[in-house]
Amino acid sequence: MYKESTNVVVKHLVNRLRDVRTASNEFRLTIEEISRIVASEALSEFKTITTNIETWQGPLDVEMIEVQKLVLIPILRAGEPMLTGILRTLPYAKSGFLAMKRDEETAESKLFYENVPPLEDKTVIILDPMVATGGSLIDGIDYLKNKGAQKIISLNILGAPEGVEAVTKAHPDVNMYIAQIDERLDEKKYIRPGLGDAGDRAFNTHI
Ligand code: PRP
Ligand code: URA
Repeated sequence: MYKESTNVVVKHLVNRLRDVRTASNEFRLTIEEISRIVASEALSEFKTITTNIETWQGPLDVEMIEVQKLVLIPILRAGEPMLTGILRTLPYAKSGFLAMKRDEETAESKLFYENVPPLEDKTVIILDPMVATGGSLIDGIDYLKNKGAQKIISLNILGAPEGVEAVTKAHPDVNMYIAQIDERLDEKKYIRPGLGDAGDRAFNTHI
């Protein structure tokens, strides 16, 4: 299943990302902001737990997100601002990392580095802003499943219909929450209209 956001603020922010005059600092902050909203759209998937807190009138049982059960896993590099944004909302969530790079000739992804905590019994949230062919996300999810992840949610910013379909076909058990699905992939496997290379835009390596 995939769910594209209908939130007008999300759409506004995605269009800020498309504008080449949006410099890298603002680009990262905008990704952080979109990620926080898209994460809250996936909230129904997060387990809650009754927690006893101390209020101004004494102890009270309240429902809190079971943050200890969440593991956030960005696909570096472009997934890093997504992690930063969500950690501002859920600072006690655990994080792990996958570093992948797409070969720009073949569009095949390659895993360069991984560091993930134990994933059994956790809700694993994979963070990848761009879903072009879907190859990086599919490989990332494969990796996490091989590491024992049973429940995975995908949060994404921009996708091509082809990539989103490929991911949902390869991993029908993973629910994707995505800010915007664009028109198509171009001949170089870039999303159109898209926003260019998200990693380059975020880390100022495009100029
Ligand atoms: C980008 C993006 C995704 C991937 C999407 O990463 O962040 O991970 O491309 O393309 P796909 O769906 O065709 O696999 P990239 O490999 O450019 O690395 P970067 O984040 O370091 O820029
Ligand atoms: N990766 C990006 O950053 N942008 C695209 O359009 C495709 C892959």
